[in-house]
Amino acid sequence: MILSKFVNELPIPPVLKPRRKDQFHTYYKVNMTEFKQSLHSELNDTKVWGYEGSYPGPTIEVESGEKVVIKWTNNLPAKHLLPVDYTVHGAHLDVPEVRTVVHVHGASVEPESDGYPEAWFTRGFKQVGPYFRKKVYQYDNNMQACTLWYHDHTLGITRLNIYAGLAGFYLIRDHRERLLNLPCGQYEIPLIIQDKSFNEDGSLFYPRQPEKPVPQLETSIVPEFFGDTILANGKVWPFLNVEPRKYRFRLLNGSNSRFYRFKLDSGQLIYQIGTDGGLMEYPIGMKEIILAPAERADVIIDFTNLEGKNIILKNDAPAPFPDGEPENVVDTVMEIRVTLPLLSIDTSVIPSYMKPFPKMSEQSASKERHLTLDEKTDKYGREIMLLDGKGWGAPITEYPKVGSTEVWYLINLTDDSHPIHIHLIHFQVLERRAFNVEIYKKERVIQYTGPLMPPVPQERGWKDTVNANPNEVTRIIMTFGPYTGLYVWHCHMLEHEDYEMMRPYIVIR
Ligand code: C2O
Ligand code: CU
Repeated sequence: MILSKFVNELPIPPVLKPRRKDQFHTYYKVNMTEFKQSLHSELNDTKVWGYEGSYPGPTIEVESGEKVVIKWTNNLPAKHLLPVDYTVHGAHLDVPEVRTVVHVHGASVEPESDGYPEAWFTRGFKQVGPYFRKKVYQYDNNMQACTLWYHDHTLGITRLNIYAGLAGFYLIRDHRERLLNLPCGQYEIPLIIQDKSFNEDGSLFYPRQPEKPVPQLETSIVPEFFGDTILANGKVWPFLNVEPRKYRFRLLNGSNSRFYRFKLDSGQLIYQIGTDGGLMEYPIGMKEIILAPAERADVIIDFTNLEGKNIILKNDAPAPFPDGEPENVVDTVMEIRVTLPLLSIDTSVIPSYMKPFPKMSEQSASKERHLTLDEKTDKYGREIMLLDGKGWGAPITEYPKVGSTEVWYLINLTDDSHPIHIHLIHFQVLERRAFNVEIYKKERVIQYTGPLMPPVPQERGWKDTVNANPNEVTRIIMTFGPYTGLYVWHCHMLEHEDYEMMRPYIVIR
């Protein structure tokens, strides 16, 4: 099915209103339901899942330090919208088919409110997972201004729940950011980019089987999912009318497995001002920006003097990344039309300096961990991805001490890049370095074959998700805390996360 490009306007998700607010807390209630929504005007309305009747979910905006309480509730039907593979961990026939749990990605949260994959709950909390602790989640938001997002995290069906629509923005703001005079209000636009495919009747398509089907199974997980259309804020290939002035965009890759290499066909620079964890030290003018699943880039684009121009946001990232098939590339994201009259003089700025970014020193680390990213074959002959040779159910091996600093070596033994995300903390990328994979597999020693590669400019800030490339060791550094307890780390390609590329870890006292 071929859909026309740039025929629907980019929707902006509504900002969620709190139920109430007192001097101590701000209270929200967020309900998950199934409903129909138009994802493209040439398609019949599509059945999706969303938060508060909206896909993507409404944007939650909080102030740094604001104590927020959210009751997430599930009013979804008992039958899943998409094909469930019952052989995948956590999705066996002994649990209800539709389960949900919400994680605020990148937030520093107490473990009971972090959305642990086995803390799921069903409609009306009728049934709950073994790690379910509370109905009402608490967020202290003890972080600087940053671009976070919330999404489903249920063991074994995260890929399906997010693909069905369960994702939205969570923005933390602070005083320091406001002093910078960045484009704001209607000139600040969140952009969640996702790929999807559709059936003729407008319903969401998600494969029941991999390209090489598994004959023993009716439904099987696929190694990766790549859709043939790109959606921004829930519309396929939309357009956005802008004024000839500066705009701030919160770019989020909310796709299952697709990476993006964004570029403007006008050739103009995109000024990145923030990473996953907030503002960087200086803005960086970039011709292209690579975003792996779950990564964010806070950017400013200047349309001054471009009256009448149509600018296309393009993508040329291979799928899978970095060595995928050219036919999997979907090269168009959306169009920006500089058609609106300038309402008032643009006094916003691209600051020359934003805030200090103190580099963490390796001397402060008390522990190093060597952790491999592995690809194996399961008993059905399917690809299965593991972390450090272990699946979800293996005994916990990472017990960092609260307040301690560690360096993790992500040793990628597979052919693909994997965006590795660690809950609770933000980290810094130290560097990447090529190594000999064959020698490592035989002798478990790292023999480097290339020079140290410093983090790319777009990573010079706080990160919670890092792209670990094939044949490279990616080193990151972080301090664990302030909370103790049970969290997870995982690959954020959702088909990998759901098929064993996720591990629990515990921050201990
Ligand atoms: Cu975006 Cu563990 O998640
Ligand atoms: Cu992966």
